[in-house]
Amino acid sequence: MSEKVYIFDTTLRDGEQVPGCKLNTKEKLALAVRLEELGVDILEAGFPVSSPGDFDSVHQIAKTLKNTVVCGLTRAVQKDIEVAAQALKPAARFRIHTGIGTSDLHIKYKFNSTREAIIERAVQAVKMARNFTDDVEFYAEDAGRTDNAYLAQVIEAVVKAGATTLNIPDTTGYCLPHQYQEKMAFLWNNVPNIDKAILSCHCHNDLGMATANSIAGVLGGARQIECTINGLGERAGNTALEEVVMILNQHKDLGFYTNINPKLLNPISREVSDIMRMAVQPNKAIVGSNAFSHSSGIHQDGFLKEAQTYEIMNPAEVGAEDTKIVLTARSGRSALAHRLHKLGFEYNRNDIDALYALFVEVADKKKEVVESDLQAMAKAYNSTMVSQ
Ligand code: KIV
Ligand code: ZN
Repeated sequence: MSEKVYIFDTTLRDGEQVPGCKLNTKEKLALAVRLEELGVDILEAGFPVSSPGDFDSVHQIAKTLKNTVVCGLTRAVQKDIEVAAQALKPAARFRIHTGIGTSDLHIKYKFNSTREAIIERAVQAVKMARNFTDDVEFYAEDAGRTDNAYLAQVIEAVVKAGATTLNIPDTTGYCLPHQYQEKMAFLWNNVPNIDKAILSCHCHNDLGMATANSIAGVLGGARQIECTINGLGERAGNTALEEVVMILNQHKDLGFYTNINPKLLNPISREVSDIMRMAVQPNKAIVGSNAFSHSSGIHQDGFLKEAQTYEIMNPAEVGAEDTKIVLTARSGRSALAHRLHKLGFEYNRNDIDALYALFVEVADKKKEVVESDLQAMAKAYNSTMVSQ
């Protein structure tokens, strides 16, 4: 029996913090509806105390969504928690996400405080939030660089105070996958009341390891992943939703599933990219424009014989356009014949050999040989055949 991993989407909060990605209420609401259709379990709609606009966005989303848990971020500050509760009140189901920095760096430089005093503030914040809802998530900011024994004390105290989800953020994207996995496993094995809550991964991508760390976190005992569409988020971004979902989907042997409909991954990626005016890099896994295109002759030949030789998933599974056989100077005869065939030209082996010589000349001069080039080549070749 496989186990569920909850998907907590923070595109509208951590993702929206990206410079240039700010959304108005109408835009946020439109995306929230799409994210609910996608199947996210929890949607972090914003940070209500941060601005009247964000309060309104969270409030409208709370009024609209039907199945997804709507979540609002707060600091461990009474006013934040009260304002979040007010914004979230109309929701069918809501969660307050509160927390505080727990690494010695945060305790010293951000709070000029002590480990003991931080535990006290964390406990107070969770108790305050519990006055408004039974669904309280606590984040230990910079948990990635927090001493594990101290982190376990914090977590034990906040679970006792009523936290039901425990976010262990690698805020600076510093951890290696095995370290993040060990951190989760340490908490799982050393916090006596850990069975009363769910551990959650929240990984940043500063060293390009957010996705790997989130999966490692699940292997260590977490059952929730916090992530964003296209991996948007502070600095180098967050864990990309589409990547963790498809990893768990492809590696069924790991024994996990999510509630996400993979067919909606490409459409929502494009929608987020358009609305946030943030292009997706072409080589981005799952949703990049090159994720399902083949350009080298060796790969094209294999793919055309049997798709599985070079594709681990079918583009339709993730709502992407059909595989593209791109023609460049590295392409081979099979790809050329395939593309000509798609244009309605049927040639035998000798024809293709002759056309290939023409093709390579053109390809060497251009980045990509496109349909109009093929039409021109075929026309030129056909006219030589007629005149012979
Ligand atoms: O990266 C982080 O630590 C966060 C918290 C506010 C959850 O985004
Ligand atoms: Zn974050």
